[in-house]
Amino acid sequence: MPKSGSVEVHHPAAQRHDPIEELFEDVFWVHGSMRVGPGMRINRNMVVLRDGNDLTLISPVRLNQEGEAALNALGTVKHVVRIGPAHGYDDRYYVEHYGAEFWRHRIGGRYLIPKVTKELAGGVKLPVKGTELFAFEETKFPEFAILVERDGGLLITCDSLQNWVNRRHCSLLARIVIPFIGIKLNTGISPIWKKAMTREGGSLRPDFERLLELEFDHLIAAHGALCRGSAKERVREAVDRAFDG
Ligand SMILES: [Fe+2]
Repeated sequence: MPKSGSVEVHHPAAQRHDPIEELFEDVFWVHGSMRVGPGMRINRNMVVLRDGNDLTLISPVRLNQEGEAALNALGTVKHVVRIGPAHGYDDRYYVEHYGAEFWRHRIGGRYLIPKVTKELAGGVKLPVKGTELFAFEETKFPEFAILVERDGGLLITCDSLQNWVNRRHCSLLARIVIPFIGIKLNTGISPIWKKAMTREGGSLRPDFERLLELEFDHLIAAHGALCRGSAKERVREAVDRAFDG
């Protein structure tokens, strides 16, 4: 049960989202959205991992009343994990409302609250059994991915790799703008993310080559939708396209 119901007024309200959906056993997602500017609404996703009765939220998205009731029916929110520095808008809500542990790199990124209680770094063991943390090492700011080691392997990313299949939960303006910033309907490395994360004279290719050594068939990111099957081949193509082109 939530630890407090009195703090909700201090947190951003839920934004438009779909119901929670199970992708694999004990792996759920919410396809939601976020208003990022006047007339600009884009999709964003939360992944929920269940281990026993404990829930771990990755890239949290606040839910409406019905959605939160469905989340509570799945288990107890125990952990909130931030794997990309540009996401975190709803982290504070979950951490304060549920008294959850908050996992992130010591460098907070865009959102400096809430305070970290479990530092993420390469080699850190995550609170969900059968998962592995992948740390990008060449990026300007801390970015991670999570591998769920079953069902052929599910790779969970934030902004680095995205898999767009449609423009659902994107406003008309966003639908016009997004293709122009290089986000196509495919599996790809976000050009904006790549530019922002690459150090002068550096390359992120070694990180992606290391990522490709992981065993995974599926991919889900903080934007887009699930890539079910053949994800590794698609990521291989995305990496070649991003760094050979
Ligand atoms: Fe993002």
